[in-house]
Amino acid sequence: MGNFLSVGPGIRNTGCIAIALPKGRLLPFVIALFEGMGVTCLRGFADSRRLICEDPDRQLQFLTLKPTDIPTYVERGAADMGVVGKDQLLEQRRDVYEPLDLRFGACRLVVAEPAELRQQDDPRSWSHLRLATKYPNLAEAYFNRKGIQAEIIKLNGSLELAPLVGLAERIVDLVETGQTLKENGLVEVEEITKSTARLIVNRASLKTKYRKVQDLIEEIRKQVEAHAARACK
Ligand code: PRP
Repeated sequence: MGNFLSVGPGIRNTGCIAIALPKGRLLPFVIALFEGMGVTCLRGFADSRRLICEDPDRQLQFLTLKPTDIPTYVERGAADMGVVGKDQLLEQRRDVYEPLDLRFGACRLVVAEPAELRQQDDPRSWSHLRLATKYPNLAEAYFNRKGIQAEIIKLNGSLELAPLVGLAERIVDLVETGQTLKENGLVEVEEITKSTARLIVNRASLKTKYRKVQDLIEEIRKQVEAHAARACK
């Protein structure tokens, strides 16, 4: 089990590399990635309420955050590195270096609507839509490109509920297995983009901690490639 750290001023001045990990679906994959590299302090992290742990031998600190906050921590240097979905990077457009596709967490951002509406709907005739989404920037850009006026209602979760209660006719949301859409009577209409988990790095850390950061990126790259090679066998 990793060391518990009290959080306070100066926690970032320890010479460690601080890595922001996303709570939720990606966390078990990220933990498996680092455990494959010999990091042991993350054992039990996914099930605990701890937000920070440390591997003193490797001089690594791990922080767990809401996925949407990871680009902010990394852009501002509160973490040197982070793992986050490409969907969030596209949505937030933060100034971070993105050296690596980690190849897990594959999902798609789609437009979806109730199955009954789909039976009589023709996307080619869309001129004005009211939709709910966690991705207002991506949704707006997508419909702008298509010349469709989109009234966007920003929500933070459980998007599939919005059409069921009349808050919006359609949603723009992530689909991984398709189970949530199916269980709520929604169907996919169009795909906007694909996403996988990415490694991101603070631009200043890339210079000030160059050797440590580059070595870690290479180590993670090898781990990802070894995992992909095993999966192909
Ligand atoms: C995501 C996404 C969908 C669901 C899709 O939500 O927003 O609701 O997962 O996954 P599926 O295709 O495998 O069913 P998440 O679980 O992150 O929770 P949220 O609704 O609170 O955002």
